Amino acid sequence: MTEQAGKAAAEWTSGHGFLLAALGAAVGLGNIWRFSYVAGENGGGAFIIAYLIAVLALGWPLLVAELAIGRSSRGDAVSAFARIAPARPWRWTGWIGLVAAVAILSYYPVIAGWVANYLWFYIQGTGSQSVGADHAARFQAAIADPVQALSWFFLVMALTIATVAAGVERGIERTCTVLMPVFILLLVLLAGYGLSLDGAGRAMAFLFTPDWNALMKPQTYLAAVGQAFFSIGLGMGVLVTYGSYVPSRQSLPRAALMLVIGDTIIALVAGLMIFPAVFTFGVNPAYGSALAFIALPEVFAAMPGGRWFAIAFFLLLSIAALTSAISLLEVPVAWVVARRGWGRGRAAFVVGSSILALGVPVALGHGILAPSGASEATLLDHVDRVSSDILLPLSAIGVALLVGWAWNAPTARSAAGLSTGRLGLLWHTSMRVAVPLAIGLVMSRGLGWI
Ligand code: TRP
Repeated sequence: MTEQAGKAAAEWTSGHGFLLAALGAAVGLGNIWRFSYVAGENGGGAFIIAYLIAVLALGWPLLVAELAIGRSSRGDAVSAFARIAPARPWRWTGWIGLVAAVAILSYYPVIAGWVANYLWFYIQGTGSQSVGADHAARFQAAIADPVQALSWFFLVMALTIATVAAGVERGIERTCTVLMPVFILLLVLLAGYGLSLDGAGRAMAFLFTPDWNALMKPQTYLAAVGQAFFSIGLGMGVLVTYGSYVPSRQSLPRAALMLVIGDTIIALVAGLMIFPAVFTFGVNPAYGSALAFIALPEVFAAMPGGRWFAIAFFLLLSIAALTSAISLLEVPVAWVVARRGWGRGRAAFVVGSSILALGVPVALGHGILAPSGASEATLLDHVDRVSSDILLPLSAIGVALLVGWAWNAPTARSAAGLSTGRLGLLWHTSMRVAVPLAIGLVMSRGLGWI
């Protein structure tokens, strides 16, 4: 990405190509693994209401902001901020994003490793794949085993490093353009199957009937904001880079809206696939970060030809996870390349291996480094929470303040393609106080600070 960023001419070949590429970075484990477990923990329907508010009121305007910063500065994530606002305080925005990228990368490939492990399991076609088999126990045993946990994590990380080193991200994007629609089709199919299960009624009730108690809890809103930023891919400059390739004739507000709607629909469809199984097979919806991994084998076990669906599903999910991991590693690598003048290969290897070292305790956190109580949060849960509920919101506050204060209204509005009309005025004005304040409040209340 960075190589092309230097050349002003690099642009997406079509609006369609940009949308699918951005959707490729946005759609990942966040939509399947994270959305389902966070929704399950936060009361289902109440969480979904809070999530929709978070996506439309905060996700959409901030996505427009990140894309506008990228397109008008035509720079990578690090230099874009510096070009628009060279003054010191704004640098922190870039820094927080960088730290968040590294933190998320220390566990994202661990989860991707669980996906790859499942893929291998279904390819081999051995072991318990029948309905009612103890899928939870098998999964827990697999992630507790240090050899399995580490080797799958290393494999995913090695693939990520190799791809970033080669700088073939655009090749990956092209692959994305083909595979994304296949993945979505498969999801819809599996959700349709999920809805035929006995527990579908209870799943629908859980997902779409708000629990008023949960709606009153500040934690529900913090979880929703954190999940919205994670899933859209906000808060670390990935979309700044993507925005830098958007042709000036394309409408950013419309593209951003289609992206957030697409990303949300995919998460909801994934919910329709996972929760019927959760209720049919008596899994606790608040099971935690392993929820999707316990519920999905039940779906595949129950459906005719489930093994083949499982292979296709986990293969596509591995690819979706890989494209997201690549976009995350690109942030610190681009920074090192720009700062130190290193080659991409060296930067990817050094940065990637350092992150790999950080991820080792995370990968071992479900076995030899597991917390003493079975229901206690693991290291992975902690890093996941801190990055999404603190770092991403902080960085989003920085982006909003930068657009609101470092950029004057006419410049910002024209960069966003919102020069005329009330929406543009609302967008820029809200960046000054309303958006940062809302994020700050949700965060402080959710964490119990105020
Ligand atoms: N959005 C991706 C997912 O849902 C993860 C991801 C990729 C991400 N790039 C990001 C999250 C940038 C935050 C910021 O799996």
